[in-house]
Amino acid sequence: MADVFAKLVKDGGPLGQHMDRAHGYFAFPKLEGELGPRMTFRGKEMIVWSLNNYLGLVNHPEVRRVDAEAAAMYGMGNPMGARMMSGNTAKHDQLEKVISEFVNREDTMLLNFGYQGIMSCIDAIVNRRDVIVYDGQAHACIVDGVRLHMGHRYAYKHNDIADCEKQLQRATEMANKNGGGILLITEGVFGMDGEQGILKEIVELKNKFEFRILIDDAHGFGYMGPNGAGADSAQGCQDGIDLYFSTFVKSMGSIGAFISGPKDVLKYLRYNTRSQIFAKSLPLLIVEGMLARMEMVKTMPELREKLWHNVNRLQEGLKARGFDIGKTNSPVTPIYMKGDVPEATSMVMDLRENYHIFCSIVVYPVIPKGDIIYRIIPTAAHSDEDIDLTLKAFEDTKKKLDKGAYKAEKIPNMAEVM
Ligand SMILES: Cc1ncc(COP(=O)(O)O)c(C=O)c1O
Repeated sequence: MADVFAKLVKDGGPLGQHMDRAHGYFAFPKLEGELGPRMTFRGKEMIVWSLNNYLGLVNHPEVRRVDAEAAAMYGMGNPMGARMMSGNTAKHDQLEKVISEFVNREDTMLLNFGYQGIMSCIDAIVNRRDVIVYDGQAHACIVDGVRLHMGHRYAYKHNDIADCEKQLQRATEMANKNGGGILLITEGVFGMDGEQGILKEIVELKNKFEFRILIDDAHGFGYMGPNGAGADSAQGCQDGIDLYFSTFVKSMGSIGAFISGPKDVLKYLRYNTRSQIFAKSLPLLIVEGMLARMEMVKTMPELREKLWHNVNRLQEGLKARGFDIGKTNSPVTPIYMKGDVPEATSMVMDLRENYHIFCSIVVYPVIPKGDIIYRIIPTAAHSDEDIDLTLKAFEDTKKKLDKGAYKAEKIPNMAEVM
């Protein structure tokens, strides 16, 4: 018989295989100092492009003040217990009401975490007779929610409306056979390639098929659309999106999440979402901080304007220099290049050590062998100077990459002792 641990210590797994050389540098790096566009990494000041701090709220003085006062008033533990048992407060209800009005839905339920929250909501919504149709590039939390599902599931090719229709056709046959319904799950803004989900086109398919739609708008909530209410409001199809989910960990610079939709469905979810029923409720200091953030999002359009100014300056600058940034139509800016893993990591090292630019890379096995994606997240807190220095750094390092200057046998050994 095998020891269950034997396979774990063999090679580290698909991402962990490089850990001996990468830990603390390419993986698990420690960014230090005040959160924002300039932080310290291994003693050097970097221009940081890895935080989903879209509106620059995470370190806004007003946000810091409210969070500190709320922490002093409530402490971390208040309230104790799950909301169903002893952890409910009027402030939790108030925040749900504010969010419902903001995203134009009848009702909202707060979730402690986005990841577990959406998994658990998916689990509560469908039974074994139902069929799930979902985007093939959906975030891991959706995939894991789908894994919990005991019925059939069909993935469609990422943002491919023809394939989506094909899978809905298959799902309809299966749901009819089993006496169930169909839940379609996609994202408002995809965090890897920056493309918005094709929400409007999917909603139009409701004229042909009977199904409900749940979107994960983690990357769109707070700044997309005329008032920041999300990707579905940007695409003018809020009415067709039955359930809207987002997290507070990105634009809101906090922690926690929510799901919004019809009152009768939310009533059911409150009593049947296992990750909430069997877990302590969101701390009051988070709730109080979120009330202040929602007020800022509603009353400070200048944050969104600054974000889009920065997005346009960065993306136009990259395109003008011949970079391939794919089909992004959001702030998430992928830069597609060719090279193997050692080359990609050598280029990242040059960017960090000599140009003081900190961004994330995505390589095989997350994407196909030979492809590299540098992912840049502009925020409202970045300056024109941050952007111009970064454009220059990419221009220089791309020339070196094309000339083969980063060719290497192995990834550079930059590990700190684990
Ligand atoms: C698309 C998407 N959904 C859900 C989550 C998970 O949210 P949380 O960090 O609140 O668990 C993330 C990442 O944070 C995400 O990018």
